[in-house]
Order: sequence, then structure tokens, then C-alpha cells
Amino acid sequence: MCGIVGIVGSKPVAGRLVDALKRLEYRGYDSAGVATVYDGVMDRRRAEGKLFNLEKRLDSEPLDGTVGIAHTRWATHGVPNETNAHPHFVEGVAVVHNGIIENFSEIRDHLTAEGSVFESQTDTEVIAHLMAKYLGEGLQPQAALLKMLNRVTGAFALAVMLKDHPNTIMAARSGPPLAIGHGKGEMFLGSDAIALSPFTSEITYLVDGDCAIISRDGATILDFSGNVVKRPRQISQATAYVVDKGNHRHFMEKEIYEQPEVISHALSHYVNFADNTVGANAAGIDFKSVSSLAISACGTAYLAGLVGKYWFERYARLPVEIDVASEFRYREMPLQPTQAALFISQSGETADTLASLRYCKENGLKIGAVVNVRESTIARESDAVFPIMAGPEIGVASTKAFTCQLAVLASLALGAAKARGTLTAKDEKELVKHLAEMPRIMSRVLNLIQPQMESLSRELSKCRDVLYLGRGTSFPLAMEGALKLKEISYIHAEGYAAGELKHGPIALIDENMPVIVIAPYDRFFDKTVSNMQEVAARGGRIIFITDEAGAGASKLPTMATITLPNVDEIIAPMIFSLPIQLLAYHTAVFMGTDVDQPRNLAKSVTVE
Ligand code: F6R
Repeated sequence: MCGIVGIVGSKPVAGRLVDALKRLEYRGYDSAGVATVYDGVMDRRRAEGKLFNLEKRLDSEPLDGTVGIAHTRWATHGVPNETNAHPHFVEGVAVVHNGIIENFSEIRDHLTAEGSVFESQTDTEVIAHLMAKYLGEGLQPQAALLKMLNRVTGAFALAVMLKDHPNTIMAARSGPPLAIGHGKGEMFLGSDAIALSPFTSEITYLVDGDCAIISRDGATILDFSGNVVKRPRQISQATAYVVDKGNHRHFMEKEIYEQPEVISHALSHYVNFADNTVGANAAGIDFKSVSSLAISACGTAYLAGLVGKYWFERYARLPVEIDVASEFRYREMPLQPTQAALFISQSGETADTLASLRYCKENGLKIGAVVNVRESTIARESDAVFPIMAGPEIGVASTKAFTCQLAVLASLALGAAKARGTLTAKDEKELVKHLAEMPRIMSRVLNLIQPQMESLSRELSKCRDVLYLGRGTSFPLAMEGALKLKEISYIHAEGYAAGELKHGPIALIDENMPVIVIAPYDRFFDKTVSNMQEVAARGGRIIFITDEAGAGASKLPTMATITLPNVDEIIAPMIFSLPIQLLAYHTAVFMGTDVDQPRNLAKSVTVE
């Protein structure tokens, strides 16, 4: 959701600001803008659409200020056009903002009655107007900032630059993340450390309720009452990665093919391959003494959690409550300090997941975080952090983060089982051995199924609706398959528990509706095949994703059968994720959609 950067530099900054925005483009990409100030001139360039439109604009109309702020937008208030793009300018004040100002409409009415004229439809513009008003009343910049921060409510990260104070950027955080980067004779500001990684690895994270006055020599951090607060300076682990697709057409494709490598990396953090045992890193929570586990997350991360529920309950006999974070946070669920809670988030910044975490923390629960970004807010506010080690995921549709989340949850479930005495040493060795085999099997499967996925995607691209069915851990996979297809190809898709078919969705089945059935040859196989019979009897076309044993056992006619190797139940969800990812990917490529940056989506959802 929107990315912010700022540089207080000593040479022109526009190019570097755009470079940093490229690393934040995953947060939003419907418009972008940059403003700089130098020698009494504050100017801006903004452009609708992707960042390259802004780059083109800057090529023809460069900016040469040495202090600047910039923004990539994911629209909340107001359509994505140039007028609504940030930075917003009001009388020598420039503002970029990520989040939502909840009382903007009341402030806007009030300021309009006083004579202010608003240009955009955004909530952000009230910040610029309030700042201009307070400065006009004679307040110094810091006092005006504090007064503005105490007037607005909501979740925000923002940066303010002033034409008359051209050596300073002011920033504030109340919700979405914001990091200050320390350079030599230069200072930086960014929505995350990755944006700043080419400039510096020395980072200070602002916490909620912090604001900062940043100059070339350093930053003063204050609370919203103006008291100076100290925040630690740390070395960021976000390396200066190259935004590079390698030999792939899209980041999503690259990330799908990276899975064997990153999963192996993730697993080696949690299990000992030498003796096939679960390692100490899988024991950050005292699973032995907890009465139950609450899991919460959003979107794909939630679906990973749903697979995790099956594993924790089956292997560790640990009851799991799971809910999407936007519901969890408001359910007023009675919680006991004897419970533990697990939050799953690639970005570690998702607003609803973070709010659910804080709710559990207030209730005294021990908090674990399964995150990709180790320095994220969710990680920092947790008692135990379980990194998924997937590396930066740029494609907006999650792929490698999902399977790494699964690998980590499988390891944690086994760690919990070991701690609770529900796993024999023999079973532990056996299951860890299966986990260890996973990267090799994934590589084989990716090569094996690629041509079939490509040709099948031509058929799928002609469809208006697609149904996915599965049982057991294949049920969350069915939902993930549907989510992946709809978010990048815009084809309507639904994922159902196969047993639910006859309770409603069967009414949709006809010869135009492909039904993708995910069914490894496991203890649910016969039941799922019965549901397939029901589909076939009504003329439905079946795409059957199964394994060698399943393909041999089912005699039903299908539109296509995708046959994977036979694998143990504990790794099946990761292996069976590959065809559903590739099917969605190739369908989207075939349809010519924007695979890496699908419409209306953003990677890090820092608003409710
Ligand atoms: C879908 C997808 C989203 C995210 C969700 C949570 O492909 O990526 O559904 O899973 O927005 O994001 P994180 O994991 O960053 O909390």
C-alpha cells in the first residue's frame, strides 16, 4: 500500500528517489511522483500509471533539487490519476503519505469553510493544508508537524518537505512502517529497508507514535507530544538485491522456479538433515505447555495457516483456531494466556494481521510470527520469529512465500509434536526425511509439468468460471488455486471442500465449467473421486491433479490429468502447489494480463 522515500542529500536526488521507488513498486503502482527542493525552488513531477511513466516525465523535465520526497501509490481515496498522485503541494508544503486519514472528511469540510481550496480527492491533501495553515499562523515546522499529527486520526506513514526549510524532511508513523537510513553526510527515509538498501544498511525504525526531523547530519526522533525518544540504530539484513528477472519473463515465473532452492534454505533452518531430526529453531514457542493455538493471517498466508492447522492437529494433537485477520481482530474471541498465537505474513506489515497480533498480546498470549521480512513490524512485535527465508518476493501474487510458509509450518508442527510427546523418534526421522526430499521432487515436478500446464492454460483462458475442489490439506490448496487464478487472470474462480459440492456449488456444473480436482492418493482419495463422479454425471469437465497412484486408481474420463510423483502426505501440499501456480501463471500470460502487477492489487496491505 503506497511506498514512501525521501533523501536529504548534497547532490541531485530525483534519480535515486526513483530508483528507491522501484524497490517499493510492489506496494502500489497506479501512479507515482517525486518532489525536490533547491535554492528556493520546490517542484514536482507526477504521472499516472507505472513508474516508467514518471521516469519518462523526468527525462524530459528533470528536477535538480538535492532534498526530495517521492511516492508510489495504491489508491484508497480518489481515482488513480495525476491530480490525486503524491506529492501534494499546498503553499510551500509537500506531502507524501501511506495509509488512511480517517477524519479527513471532517477536516476537509472545516478547512473548506475557512477558505481552503482542495485540488484532489485524496485524504492526504488535508495533511498539506493543515501544515500550511499552522505554518501560516506562525508556528515553527516542528510545532506545526506536532499540531497536525494531533489533529489527524487513522493509520499513516508520511513525509513532509517545506520550501522555506529546504534542508530538512519531517516524517511520522502511526501504523504503516517507516525507516530512517543513515548515510555519510546524507540521510534517507523509506517505507522499508529494502528501498534504502543501495544507499545504506544502517537503519533506525520508527515505532508507532514517532515523528522525526531529518537533516543531513542525522535525525531527531520525537513522540507526538514533542518529547525526544531514542530508537536503536541497527544494521539491516536487507541486502542490495538487484530488481532482476534473470532469464524469466516475469518475477512470478522466476519465483515459482526458485522454490526448490528457497525451500531447501528454509528447511535447513528448522531441521537437521544430517540426522533427520527437527532442530531447535522450530521450538521458539513452548508448545508443550500451550492449551491451543490461534492462527491468523490474510489471503494466501491465511491459506498456508489453514494447511498448518491440519498439521498441528494431526501431528501435535494441538487444537487450532484459525481465522482471517480482518475477522479475528473484531471477533472479541475469549482468549486465555495458556494459548499461543501464530501470525503468518510475507510482508510482516499487513494491517489486519498486526491488529490481531496486538489483540492477542493484550490478552497475554505468547506470540509467534512466520514472516519473510525479518525486520518487519509483525516480527518485531512477536516473542518468537520464524523466518520463511524466501528472499524478496516481487510478484504480487504470492508463490514461493506460500510454499516456504508451508515448509516452516510443517517443521513447527513437527517441533510441537516432538515437544508434546506425540511423535515417536522413528516417525520424526521418517517425516523429516520426506521434508528433505522435497526440493529435489519440486525441481523434477517443475520440469515435468511445464509443457502440459502451458497447453492447458489455453483451454482455461477461454473460461469464465472455474471451480477448484479438494479435501484435507488439498481443501486450502483448492482455495489457493482459485485465488491465484482470479488475481492474475481475472477469471472468476472458487475453491471448495470437495464434500461441500453437493451443498450448493453443484448447481453451477455444466459443460462450460472446468472443475479442477486436487486429489493425491491419500486417505481422502476415494471420497474425492465420488465427488468427481457427481461432476462427471452432470457433464462437468474435470482437470484432475493427482499422483501416479491416483491416476492409476481412477477410471473417470477427464479433460486432463496432471500426474505428479507419489509423495508423503506431509509434503503433498507443497508439491501440489506447483501445478496450481503454473496453471494460473500460464493462463494469465496467455491472456496478456499484467502478471507481476495485477490490477487493483498491492503486495503489502497496510490499510484495513
Ligand atoms: C495473494 C497474496 C495475498 C497475501 C495477503 C497477505 O497472492 O499474496 O493474498 O497473501 O495480502 O499478505 P502478507 O503475507 O504480506 O501478510
